[in-house]
Amino acid sequence: MNYKTIPKQFYRQQEMLANRVKKRFKHLRGRFARQNIDVFRLYDWDIPEIRAVVDWYGGHLVIGEYMRRQSVPEWLPLMGRAVAQILNVPMENVHLKERRAGNQDGNRYTRIDYTNKKIVLRERDLKFLVNPYDYVDTGLFSDHRDTRQIIRKTSAGKDFLNLYGYTGSFSCYAAKGGARSTLSVDRSESAIQWARENMSLNRIDPTTNKLTQAHTFDFLKSAVKNKQRFDLAVVDPPSYSTTKIRNMFFDITRDHPRLLKAVINIIRPGGDLFFSTNHQKFELRMDELNVSQIKEITAITIPEDFRSKRKTIHRCWHITV
Ligand SMILES: C[S@@+](CC[C@H](N)C(=O)[O-])C[C@H]1O[C@@H](n2cnc3c(N)ncnc32)[C@H](O)[C@@H]1O
Repeated sequence: MNYKTIPKQFYRQQEMLANRVKKRFKHLRGRFARQNIDVFRLYDWDIPEIRAVVDWYGGHLVIGEYMRRQSVPEWLPLMGRAVAQILNVPMENVHLKERRAGNQDGNRYTRIDYTNKKIVLRERDLKFLVNPYDYVDTGLFSDHRDTRQIIRKTSAGKDFLNLYGYTGSFSCYAAKGGARSTLSVDRSESAIQWARENMSLNRIDPTTNKLTQAHTFDFLKSAVKNKQRFDLAVVDPPSYSTTKIRNMFFDITRDHPRLLKAVINIIRPGGDLFFSTNHQKFELRMDELNVSQIKEITAITIPEDFRSKRKTIHRCWHITV
């Protein structure tokens, strides 16, 4: 890095970011430690000119930059160094990620590295394998930490479906809550393998807690055919997916009524569906849904460390069939 060319405001931004993160860390560390929560958010673009997100992963830091055309390669490493220094984190535990907005999930899931290294971190009485090295996403979405707890509390005796299940964290909670069965569906082989590892780490019985590698709409079709039914489901899709439906890409804004209708079809009467999206401009179209109740529960699903004036990290609805 050529330090002569670094603009002065970058140094000022380093100081501002470091101070903000230090304050947040002091505020959050104790309360999360008491709950055995190792992963939490320290900063998310709270200062307008510092377009960064900083997450604590049990002694590791995952620091992202919201990229734009004016971004310069020196900026993120400088911010990373400042945050690492103030929290005494060695540089080998600092993971820098360029976050790009895009209408293809391909961007988010592209590999950055090939270490395949996973670390075990705690979330309450559960443990999850997290990979801060290889992708933008680490294997654990902490903004749904409290939604997982809601699922645990409502899952006793139920058949639980986890669509777009990723690394299976919702299913682990449902199993711990006493679900009669869980089924996690994801199209990615590595996500299914990761979910299997998470289940085994939490000593969850693989005979009643199953994993299926399938595209969502293919699974939904076969579930109807096989008369598979569930009492409780989580549907937490990406905003865009390259899966083609009638030769079109999946777009949550456009396609959620079709998706939710198909899921509701395989939920038993009186059953519950939790639907969530991280799409920032989402409008739920519920006119076509034949259900007894739809309630937005975003206010209780966003944890303290993700509450921000700038954006709503996710929105979540509880649908009673
Ligand atoms: C937004 S994440 C889901 C997060 C997950 N619910 C959680 O809480 O950890 C995206 C996941 O959806 C999966 N996915 C994307 N499109 C899919 C599709 N059409 N069918 C099945 N899985 C899909 C990806 O493989 C990825 O694992």
